[in-house]
Amino acid sequence: MKVTLTINGERREADVWEGESLLFALRERLGLPGSKNACEQGECGSCSVILDGQLVCACLVLAAQADGHEVTTVEALANGGDLHPVQQAFVDAGAVQCGFCTPGLVVAAADLLRRHANPSDDQIREALSGNLCRCTGYAKIFDAVRLAAERT
Ligand code: FES
Ligand code: FES
Repeated sequence: MKVTLTINGERREADVWEGESLLFALRERLGLPGSKNACEQGECGSCSVILDGQLVCACLVLAAQADGHEVTTVEALANGGDLHPVQQAFVDAGAVQCGFCTPGLVVAAADLLRRHANPSDDQIREALSGNLCRCTGYAKIFDAVRLAAERT
């Protein structure tokens, strides 16, 4: 079936199978591999995208469900050669090790800072509770979100 989505502000079409996830369509059909596939079960948050203003796991949304909707992926965060403040803060705070969780975390953190410019630690904890990192122990990730909040 054919789906038409607005992805990162651009109207895109894709031929998808009825049972195919939005994550698969983004990565394999639309040339947007930034959203990562780590569990495909809604457990890790590495595939986080914004669907009509809501943070979702792209692996749990069918591409067909996103037909006619707006999707924002990690690829939209940087502005040309300039990293998004959350991305820059992750670099500066040393919050990236293997990097597999990072796209999902920066999408979730950017979404948090859009809603709460100066989030409390509890708000950060809750906002990132769906994003698993196997490397960092989370302290640097929290530092990065606080740093991004300070800078914006
Ligand atoms: S790949 Fe979607 S939540 Fe893990
Ligand atoms: S940096 Fe490796 S999983 Fe988070």
